[in-house]
This record gives sequence, C-alpha cells and structure tokens, in this order.
Amino acid sequence: MQSEINPWSSRQNIDTEKLFRDFGIKPAGQAIKDLKNPPVFFRRGIVAGQRDYAAVADAIENHKKFYVMTGFMPSGHPHLGHLMVMKEVVWHTLMGGTGYISVADREAHAVRGISWDKCKEFGKEYLKCIYALGYRGNTYFQSENNPLKDLAFESATKINFSELSAIYGFTQETSLAHAMSVATQVADILYPQTREGPAPTVVPVGIDQDPHIRLTRDVAGKLRMFTVIDLESGSPGVSIRSKNAPVKAMDKLEKAFPGCKRYEGHIDVYGADRDLVEKTVRETELDCGGYGFYLPSATYHTFLQGLMGGKMSSSVPESLFRFDEPEKDIRKKIMNALTGGRMTLEEQKRLGGEPEKCSVYLLNLFHMQEDDEELKDMRCACREGRLMCGTCKKETFERVKTFLKDFNEKMDEVSHMVEE
Ligand code: TRP
Ligand code: SF4
Repeated sequence: MQSEINPWSSRQNIDTEKLFRDFGIKPAGQAIKDLKNPPVFFRRGIVAGQRDYAAVADAIENHKKFYVMTGFMPSGHPHLGHLMVMKEVVWHTLMGGTGYISVADREAHAVRGISWDKCKEFGKEYLKCIYALGYRGNTYFQSENNPLKDLAFESATKINFSELSAIYGFTQETSLAHAMSVATQVADILYPQTREGPAPTVVPVGIDQDPHIRLTRDVAGKLRMFTVIDLESGSPGVSIRSKNAPVKAMDKLEKAFPGCKRYEGHIDVYGADRDLVEKTVRETELDCGGYGFYLPSATYHTFLQGLMGGKMSSSVPESLFRFDEPEKDIRKKIMNALTGGRMTLEEQKRLGGEPEKCSVYLLNLFHMQEDDEELKDMRCACREGRLMCGTCKKETFERVKTFLKDFNEKMDEVSHMVEE
C-alpha cells in the first residue's frame, strides 16, 4: 500500500485526500491564515498540503531564523514541471529564509544510472534556473559534500532495512547505493541545521516525495538526545525524556531548572513554559555534542498536468517544454494542448468551456498569470463561452514567450555563478 507513492515510480495519479488522511499531511489552509501575505502557490491551492508549517509561518512573520531546502535529481534537463518547487524556494528566501539547494547526483547515479559527467551537466542547468529566478543561497552537489556524507552515515545508523521496505517497497534486489542515496537525502534535509544551528526548515516538494519527509522526521527524532512532552499527570509543566542522553547532559538540565525533579530517564519541570524548556534542551544537546534538531516542515504541491492531459513527464515531450526550446516548438505544443473546450465553436459559445480540466488554464494558474483578477477574468470568460480556445492559447503563448525571454536573459546573466 505504501509503495503506492514510491517516489521513483512513474505513477502519478495520486489520491491526494487519501494520502493526507493516511499520513497526517495537513491542508494548506491553516498556513494561509498564519501568513499576512500568502503567495500565489498557497492562495491558489497549488500547494495543497503541509507538515508543521506553523513553525515556518511564525519564523516568517516574526523575523526568526529558518531554512528552506530542497533537492533536484539531475536525471535530465530541467523543465516546466520543476518550476513550482523553484519558485517556492525563492519565495521563502525572499521572506528571510536561508536557502540550501542540493543537486542529488548520488540519487541520479544510483537510481537512474546517470553518469557523473551528465549529472554535472544537468545539475548546472538546474542551478542556473534557480539563480535566474532570484535564488541567492547555498548550493552543492551531494557527491562533493563530505560533511553531508558524514551526516548521511550518521543518519543511516537510525535507518534499517525493514523501514526501507515498508516506506519505499525496497526488496532484496534493491541496490545498496539506492539505500545510501536515501540516507543522503535525509542528510540533505538535516544539513542546514548542522551548519547554522537548529531552526525550522521547510522542504518544498511534490506530494510524491512525502516518504522522504516522513523518514527524515523519524531520523531527526531518533538523533535527538531528548524529547519534551507535556506532564502526564496533567499538571502544568513538561517532562524531558532522555533517549540515551549522556549523564553530563542530564546534569546540565537538572542545574538549568531549579526545583525540577530528576528521575532515571527523565526530568520533570513543573509549571514550566514549554518553548523555554525546548530551547534550553536544544542548547544543552548542542553543548554535549548532539544535534538539537527541529523536525523538518514540508509543503506539498500538486502536479501541473501535462499539456496533453495526464502526467507531465520528460518521456512525453509534448506534455511539457524546456526553457531552452525553440519558440516555434513551444508554440506548437501550446496550440496542440488538450483544453477544456467543446467539440464545436457553437457548442463552446452555448455551454462554455471547462477551465478546471484545461491544461492551458492550469498552465496560467500555475505559472503564467500571476494576477489573480486577470486569471479570474479568464476563467469566467471561458465558462461563459466568451473566450474561444484558439484565442486563449495564443494569448497564453504570448505570456509564455515573455516569461521565457526574461528567464533566458536572466539565465545568461547568472551563468557565471554556476561555473564557480
Ligand atoms: N528525491 C528528490 C527528487 O527525486 C530530490 C532530492 C534530493 C530532494 N534531496 C532532496 C528533495 C532533499 C527534497 C529535499 O526529485
Ligand atoms: Fe482552456 Fe482557454 Fe479553451 Fe477555456 S478557452 S477551455 S481556458 S483553452
């Protein structure tokens, strides 16, 4: 059942609601309420779910430290389908987050058999795209990052094969390198906190990547020395539970909270403010050589359907375009796209189109029309039979053209950043 959303499978007709229900992903609605100015991808429901986003929204609104991190597997050229995550990352950096981008060349090599040279080449293309979108932050290739690899090894001490088979459907035939690439991705997500100290980390991903998030949260918890929970007695206060914490750390905490009660494996602090205790516990862990991790947060975006309907995939070239494709090819793809239009013009005028089903409308909703009013006008005109698909596609192509012209210019401007 779980391997249904195996991140490496090509299936993508994911039952979002079921997934949310089964795995505890929360709808994005609360996140929107917590933000003063929610961005397009939240407002339009493109990001449909989240985990622990409250911590990130709090950091944004109150100017606290947080990280935004994601990874790209360089198994081919970047294309339209990667744009959403890139925009989410850039937006979070503009909101004050420190950015980390991993080029997951270990994964591409282990899982897809991509040569290291190709990984380098594709990886640079991804980085160029994200810089062109305004990203300024850290980037690395997994294979070149030694502290990351050390962290992957440490993470791997908390992962066993039965978990891998339960989460990903790994079998006896799965290569060890594949398993190592999973540990490396766990390390990717925890890496910012090991560089710059514990803080909330948001990982924008497609829904198919949730297994990685779950595993990472599990590992992050296991790598902690302590967990802080409410007192079981129901009286106000918290209990600091040790998970094999060194005696030294227990001593320190006992000193830090006068009047607390120390037991064999836990310390109870009565009437204490939870956030304050959490903070002290984290600092103590760091002092004693631990990690003090926050469990990573995540946002889950839905997938833009392909231009021919169905899945957008580089194995179906008509379903998407790359950013460096000749204009006439892109034009053709858009003009041939599957729409929510009717069989005949007469019918379309009478019944109106169906924008929700239309890949051209969705392209606008996801990327090409940032103005909510204009998007609404387009939707209404379509529904009311005032807008015909031919015109609509031409207008959309013009927007795509403008976007790509600007994007490609910016890519040229930032290409030196990728060579360094
Ligand atoms: N597995 C991701 C993919 O297939 C890439 C990835 C690697 C990633 N490391 C990551 C995603 C860390 C999010 C966070 O695209
Ligand atoms: Fe899609 Fe535009 Fe046709 Fe409506 S008019 S169905 S939005 S292409």
